Amino acid sequence: MSAPLVLGLETSCDETSAAVLRGEELLGHVVLSQDVHEVYGGVVPELAARAHLQKVDPVVDEALARAGAGIDEVEAVAVTAGPGLIGALLVGVSWAKAAAFALGRPLVAVHHMEAHLFGPLLDDPEARPPFVALLVSGGHTLLLHSEAWGRYCLLGQTRDDAAGEAFDKAAAILGLPFPGGPSVDRAAREPGADDRAVELPVSRLGRESLDFSFSGLKTALLYEVRGKPRPRAEGGGFERDHASLTPGRRRDLAATFERAVVEAIVLKLGRAFETLAGGGTVPASLLCGGGVTANTRLRAALEAFAAERRLDLRLPRLDLCVDNAAMIAGLGARLLAAGRAADLSLTATPTTGC
Ligand code: KG4
Ligand code: ZN
Repeated sequence: MSAPLVLGLETSCDETSAAVLRGEELLGHVVLSQDVHEVYGGVVPELAARAHLQKVDPVVDEALARAGAGIDEVEAVAVTAGPGLIGALLVGVSWAKAAAFALGRPLVAVHHMEAHLFGPLLDDPEARPPFVALLVSGGHTLLLHSEAWGRYCLLGQTRDDAAGEAFDKAAAILGLPFPGGPSVDRAAREPGADDRAVELPVSRLGRESLDFSFSGLKTALLYEVRGKPRPRAEGGGFERDHASLTPGRRRDLAATFERAVVEAIVLKLGRAFETLAGGGTVPASLLCGGGVTANTRLRAALEAFAAERRLDLRLPRLDLCVDNAAMIAGLGARLLAAGRAADLSLTATPTTGC
């Protein structure tokens, strides 16, 4: 008996994406990144929800057309139920519920962050627990330990900004275009970039902390670019704005910021493995996912980290780092096989708890 044809749908933030998956074969996949947010320099939740509403039908149609399948051949509908922007999530969840009901097929609710773990698995289905997972996205920075699929022990998380959010804000401070992460990455790759142009803090927190903090780093970058904030009595604001940055200085600050973020991540990863080893557990695998794993320096650093510790590293390929429905369909298929279908009372859950 062949594996069921699963339609996956992702609308948690600013990508409208649909995927058609059978077993391990991704038959059709469309990721539409919304460009309405560009002029605002960040994702505007209401605009994201409206854009999903406009594009969900054509995106699903295109994914099915690429798969050479009709909607009536779909055997299960998997959808991101959270975490994410509530309006954006509701578009996908409502669409998926209606489709599952109309087709008389099962509905599967997928946790967006767990699905990011499936980014590497789409090309590499052999990966399995036990592993340490690093999930770095626009909304989350999580270090997990898993001994079985579906069971995750939280080792550490961000106390303020997520890693991707820090990249996005750094880009705004540097006057680099939205989306910020890829812009900082590109600027840091420009020839001659000096990644030690200034002192920027690499957050450590307590000696044993596995948590992350990026807001101090972001503020340090802001002061580097704009000078000290002026007292309110003197009119407030800053000494200068980012327009005074030369292209060379912008490139160097992007590279320096990127290095500090990557160093903080690798530092916490090292601590995580040491902490686990201290408790007698030494996972041999490191699974990574989320948009920030597209970062050139982070990928190289993770490869070096894994090689040094002889870890089996699983990184998603570049196009599966950022939000996509292939990972939703992938996890959805596994949940379905485990008998974990949802019912039509499913609702969107914007926070991590879904
Ligand atoms: O996983 P994702 O697509 O969405 C969320 O679940 O949040 O991650 C998006 C985040 C954004 O903050 C984006 O700036 C960041 O991933 N990102 C990057 C790169 N590509 C995407 N950050 C650094 N370097 C990149 N190349
Ligand atoms: Zn994501």
